Amino acid sequence: MSTAPGPALPCAELHLHIEGTLEPELIFELAARNGIQLPYANLQELRSRYEFTDLQSFLDLYYANMEVLRTEADFADMTRAYLRRAAAAGVRHVEMMVDPQAHLLRGIPLQVCMNGVAGVLATSLEEFGVSTELIAAFLRDRPAAEAEAVLAQLIASRAPIVGIGLDSAEVGNPPEGFVELYRMARDAGLKCVAHAGEEGPSHYIEQALDLLLVDRIDHGIRCLDDSVLVDRLVRERIPLTICPLSNVRLRSVDTLAEHPLPQMLARGLNVSVNSDDPAYFGGYVDDNFRLLRDTFALSTDQLATLAVNSVEASFAPPARQAELLEMVSSWRAAQG
Ligand code: ADE
Ligand code: ZN
Repeated sequence: MSTAPGPALPCAELHLHIEGTLEPELIFELAARNGIQLPYANLQELRSRYEFTDLQSFLDLYYANMEVLRTEADFADMTRAYLRRAAAAGVRHVEMMVDPQAHLLRGIPLQVCMNGVAGVLATSLEEFGVSTELIAAFLRDRPAAEAEAVLAQLIASRAPIVGIGLDSAEVGNPPEGFVELYRMARDAGLKCVAHAGEEGPSHYIEQALDLLLVDRIDHGIRCLDDSVLVDRLVRERIPLTICPLSNVRLRSVDTLAEHPLPQMLARGLNVSVNSDDPAYFGGYVDDNFRLLRDTFALSTDQLATLAVNSVEASFAPPARQAELLEMVSSWRAAQG
């Protein structure tokens, strides 16, 4: 955490949309570089749009702002800016989602976005001390066949991805429509994650587990509506990548003080803390940890458990997981 005194809590960030790290200043810089006229006169006017009523109201702005990403250099600059900030936040491993389908739909070839992001990730450990994996996320509010065609291209071009995800507007777009997409991914040896139970009902979480056979659930906070499901998630140690500031800003919970993370931790759920779309939701992973700690008086042991969960739920190879766990243990020891 960027909290005095002492170093940031080392952790893995498992739920991060790289396009959600586009800060307003970079949006203006890229717009100028690409000769794009933004529909906002200045930073202040753009920032005044960051009041969301639900997931869709955020997605509208998120997709609109993507328009400034045109070249490999644009994707690379956005990725580098995130890694610099994440390293300062204590992130030592990130599994970053990118939305290639969204870029293709607006005419940006797959290679432009994938090469731009992956080119920076290739040297992120040396440059920033952050190991990385890339996850291609697909849009659940678009036809499944479209996602399947994009995944086929990614597989054929040997895109450097560790897995696939499912994002965008959740309600009315259940996991059951994407069984074939996830079968293709598994057959190609890819890991599988999916947003479920962010705004959508708890049975979407069950569908993601039973039909898509996901390795972890992004969000999943709505599991608390079904105690049988909670028992199962605990028993099977299914990781849930929780994004507290995102849940507040998208009104899944009214205030941070009402966030169920402490209950989830106490219940034995495998929860981690993540920033989702930090440029839009008021903070990076360190801000999430700091606000959680201040709101709930989380103990050093609880913070360390959250960091250990993030490492154990990651797709990092065992040797890297061991290094990351050692970092958490040193941090814990330094806290006294
Ligand atoms: N795409 C980017 N951020 C998202 C979120 N929080 N939920 C669903 N889709 C997203
Ligand atoms: Zn997300």
